[in-house]
Amino acid sequence: MFARRVLALVAVATVLLASGTMVAHADHAPSPTSVVSWREHDRHRAGTAWTDIVTVTPALGRTAELQERVDGRWVTRSTLTVGDGYSAPVGVRLTHHWTARPVTWWRLHLPRTATAAEATTPAKKVVATWAPSDDPASPQVLVNKERPLTPHDWAPPDLVRPDVATLGSHDLLRPEAAAALERLDAAAHAATGERLVLASGFRPHEYQEALHARYVREHGLSAADTFSARAGHSEHQTGFAADVTRAGVPFTDFGTTSLGRWVAEHAWEHGFVVRYPEGSEAVTGYHAEPWHLRYVGADLAAYLHHGTIATLEEAFGTGPATSYPPARS
Ligand code: DAL
Ligand code: ZN
Repeated sequence: MFARRVLALVAVATVLLASGTMVAHADHAPSPTSVVSWREHDRHRAGTAWTDIVTVTPALGRTAELQERVDGRWVTRSTLTVGDGYSAPVGVRLTHHWTARPVTWWRLHLPRTATAAEATTPAKKVVATWAPSDDPASPQVLVNKERPLTPHDWAPPDLVRPDVATLGSHDLLRPEAAAALERLDAAAHAATGERLVLASGFRPHEYQEALHARYVREHGLSAADTFSARAGHSEHQTGFAADVTRAGVPFTDFGTTSLGRWVAEHAWEHGFVVRYPEGSEAVTGYHAEPWHLRYVGADLAAYLHHGTIATLEEAFGTGPATSYPPARS
C-alpha cells in the first residue's frame, strides 16, 4: 500500500516532467523544487525504527538536510542523498533524535543547486508515545496496583550484585540496572563526594508477601497499601527497582539529604526514574518515595525528564493505578 503510494508519487512527478513545465525554466532560472508526501503530523511509538518516505523533484545531485527545531532554531541533524533521477523517493529516519522528547518538530531543507531552487518543507510535528511492556524481563515493564507481574511469582534468572555499598541483603539487581546504578553512584560521588548505599534491590515474591503482611499487622491494610506493594505487584520483584540511601541515613530520610536532591535531579541521566514522586500519590497510589529508583533505560528516562512527565503511568498513558483489582476466586 505504502510502496504503491510512493510509486504513484513518482508517477505524478514524471508527468510534470513530461509536460515540460519544469524543463522550460532550465536555461534561465533554477527549476522549482517540490517535496511530496511530507506529512505535517505524525504520531509514533518512541524507540521504534520508522522511516518517512518522501519524493523530491528534481533529485539529480541533491542532498537534503533533515532539521530539528531546538530552542526556536533549526538544527541540521543529518543529510540525505536524494538520488540520481529527476525525481526520487528518499527515506527519512528520525529515530535517533526523537525518542528523548515527547514532541518534536522536523523539516527537510534542500539547498539551491545550479539548476534547482532551494526548498523547505513545512514543519512536521512528531508526537512520540511509549507503550508499557507486560514482559517482566523488560526495563519498560509497567508494574503497579492494577498491573501485576505475569507470572505472579516471577523471578529474573540473571540477577547480579552491583559494585556499590549495600546493607548486606536484597542487594541483587538485573544486570542493566546494576551497571546503571554503578554509574549513578560514580557520578554522585564525583558531584557530591557522597556514595550511594543500596538498601533494597530484588525482593522475591514470598519475601514481598511477608513484608506486606507485616505492615498490614502493624498499620492495617489500607495504610499498608499506601507504602508497600502486595506480592506480584512490586517493582522490586523485577530486579529493576533499587531503594537507595546515604550511609548512616535511614532510607526514609534520603529525600531530605543533599545526595537525595542530587539523585532526584540526575537519576534520569543513568536510566532511572524516581518512581513515586511527591504530588503523584493520586496517580501511583503510593506516598512519595524519594529513595525508590526504577531502572527504565536511558531513552524512557530521558523522555520523562524532557517532557516533565512525573510518572510511568502518565508516560504510558494508562491512567492512575490507585487500587487493586478485585481478588480472583
Ligand atoms: N514500596 C514499594 C511501593 C514496594 O513495596 O514495591
Ligand atoms: Zn522500593
